[in-house]
Amino acid sequence: MQQTPQIVAIGSDHAGPALKEVLIAAMQAAGHDVIDCGTDGPASVDYPDFAAAVVDQVLTGRAAFGVLVCGTGIGMAMAANRCPGIRAAVLHDTTEARLTRAHNDANVACFGARTIGPETALDSLTSFLATPYEGGRHERRVAKLSAADAALRAS
Ligand code: RB5
Repeated sequence: MQQTPQIVAIGSDHAGPALKEVLIAAMQAAGHDVIDCGTDGPASVDYPDFAAAVVDQVLTGRAAFGVLVCGTGIGMAMAANRCPGIRAAVLHDTTEARLTRAHNDANVACFGARTIGPETALDSLTSFLATPYEGGRHERRVAKLSAADAALRAS
């Protein structure tokens, strides 16, 4: 993991602490600042609570990106994407990671600790953090996501 240092907030539910630790160690070794929002053990918790903690770090600008781990990554993505301004994607490989940054300007990466191995998760996160948003033809589409967020806020 070799890239421009970023501040990254990370959180998991009880399915994810082991993968979370692997991702934190790799990000720190690469020079990123990591805000660990928990959870840290096997006690059962609710993934929306940890998604909310990470999303708050991103939406307030304390972190540039968020990383969320649960059993599948899906519950975390569902929770995160309910928050206006968040564009969360479940990642299974480096291609999804690169393209969701380049095309969707994704700001939260979600992983399934029960569905992806640590090497693949690490490679995907490296690709996610290293890829800039392309803008250009994607601006109009991402702007429509932002407009939908604004409409939700107003409703
Ligand atoms: C917890 O058992 C599991 O349901 C959760 O980690 C996640 O996979 C939900 O999407």
